[in-house]
Amino acid sequence: MRLSTTTGFRLLPGRLSPLEQATLLDEVTARMAEAPLVHQVTPGGKAMSVGMTSCGDLGWTTDEKGYRYEPRHPTTGRFWPSIPTILTELWRELADPDVPPDACLINFYNAQAKMGLHQDKDEADLRFPVLSVSLGDTAVFRLGGPRRGDPTASMRLSSGDVCLLAGEARLYHHGVDRILPGSSRLIPGGGRINLTLRRAAPAQ
Ligand code: SIN
Ligand code: FE2
Repeated sequence: MRLSTTTGFRLLPGRLSPLEQATLLDEVTARMAEAPLVHQVTPGGKAMSVGMTSCGDLGWTTDEKGYRYEPRHPTTGRFWPSIPTILTELWRELADPDVPPDACLINFYNAQAKMGLHQDKDEADLRFPVLSVSLGDTAVFRLGGPRRGDPTASMRLSSGDVCLLAGEARLYHHGVDRILPGSSRLIPGGGRINLTLRRAAPAQ
């Protein structure tokens, strides 16, 4: 693992070209057919408005028992599909050149979906960044700091934007206030897909 590549929060607007976005959407749609989206339940018993699935060795899972990573889909019981190569290459370039991601969370937001402010902290080694790719409708994204009450900034994440939570920003609170319906024509029927690449298990 090389720690030098990035630190802090980095936003790369339009990092994926329209053609790359369309290709990635096809790859992700195939994964969602194999591993369907699930409205998982939080430990508090509430179904999430965001539909979720995963690809990679491990998938982020929540139910009444808590948050964790699991090797199998919660309803089909099958192993997760593979992470698209476009994404593992992006990780190699922007996140870590040596250790590959082992989890990619696929979030689908319809026009009403949102995600409350939270930290990503279920991964074994928090020195690895989280790399996020947005497809489809624009999100109003909120980024805070390491403490829950820290001031937050609001920004828009559009289709093709890539961002990185690395170094000191790795544990920054973040969430999605709302989706701007009709802001992109990429996804048939509208909506937003966010892909987050993570290293969930310790590096060997
Ligand atoms: C997440 O924190 O899992 C998703 C962030 C996003 O949708 O941009
Ligand atoms: Fe997150």
